[in-house]
Amino acid sequence: MKRACVIGWPVEHSRSPLIHRYWLKLYKIDGAYEKEAVRPEDLARFLGSLKDRGYAGANVTLPHKEAALRLAIIADEAARAIGAANTLWLDDAFRLNASNSDAYGFVANLDAGAPHWNDGRKPVMVLGAGGAARAIVHGLLAEGATRVVLANRTRGRAEALAGAFGPAVTVVDWTKRDRALSDCSLLVNATSLGMTGKEPLNIDLTFLPPDAVVTDIVYSPLETPLLAAARARGNRTVDGLGMLLHQAVPGFERWFGVRPEVTPKLRAHVAASLGER
Ligand code: ATR
Repeated sequence: MKRACVIGWPVEHSRSPLIHRYWLKLYKIDGAYEKEAVRPEDLARFLGSLKDRGYAGANVTLPHKEAALRLAIIADEAARAIGAANTLWLDDAFRLNASNSDAYGFVANLDAGAPHWNDGRKPVMVLGAGGAARAIVHGLLAEGATRVVLANRTRGRAEALAGAFGPAVTVVDWTKRDRALSDCSLLVNATSLGMTGKEPLNIDLTFLPPDAVVTDIVYSPLETPLLAAARARGNRTVDGLGMLLHQAVPGFERWFGVRPEVTPKLRAHVAASLGER
């Protein structure tokens, strides 16, 4: 039996088991996907014992993503560029390998939900400067985005992020975010604003071109106030749940040997667990 897990602290809230167990059943694979609550101080020891625990690999969630990258023997380009790992596996020599599928998940979700989103190669606006924003900027540049405009409440964090990626990424002040939308073909919320229980993202979409796409990393609620406002004025919208589903694909293929599909049924299965339909 092949086994994988998600490692976090806490880990209880993780939706990854729901996704991977759905695919294990669908593809009739003799496998298991567990939740492992691992304290930060125990991470190195835990990753060193993956083989003894019978794991082919693991997903890594907060707060372990950066540490997991440092602890891996081999890291791919995406993990290095993003500075964090979310997918680990043991190779034939049982060396710990690390990758990051968040950028892949973000782009695959956009490709599925808003085909041709990058046809005009116009500027893209990303709100936020945390780990999620970093993965998204990497994904956008890898897909050929020619200009990424970053806005973050704490300007210094946006500047640090832009500095890590070079001249295609520029910063606008958080207070100027509304105006800066005027030539953008894509708006991405990579902050936690709009999540159930948090304050909504405060942004005026008046200047956003009508053919621009709006997407959100927040998936609870599925339709955030930002997406609702964008939809109301006729912009195409892509919700954040698809990013979560698509980022799971590379790990599953790696551990279990089948490239799984993100389908409406899987989406409904996970949405139901969020209390959405
Ligand atoms: P992650 O790594 O998951 O992206 P994070 O590093 O905590 O999480 O980043 C959260 C993002 O939401 C940040 O860009 C944060 O802005 P700051 O860098 O200024 O903290 C943004 N954010 C959180 N609460 C916010 C608020 N009330 N107004 C504006 N931005 C907010």
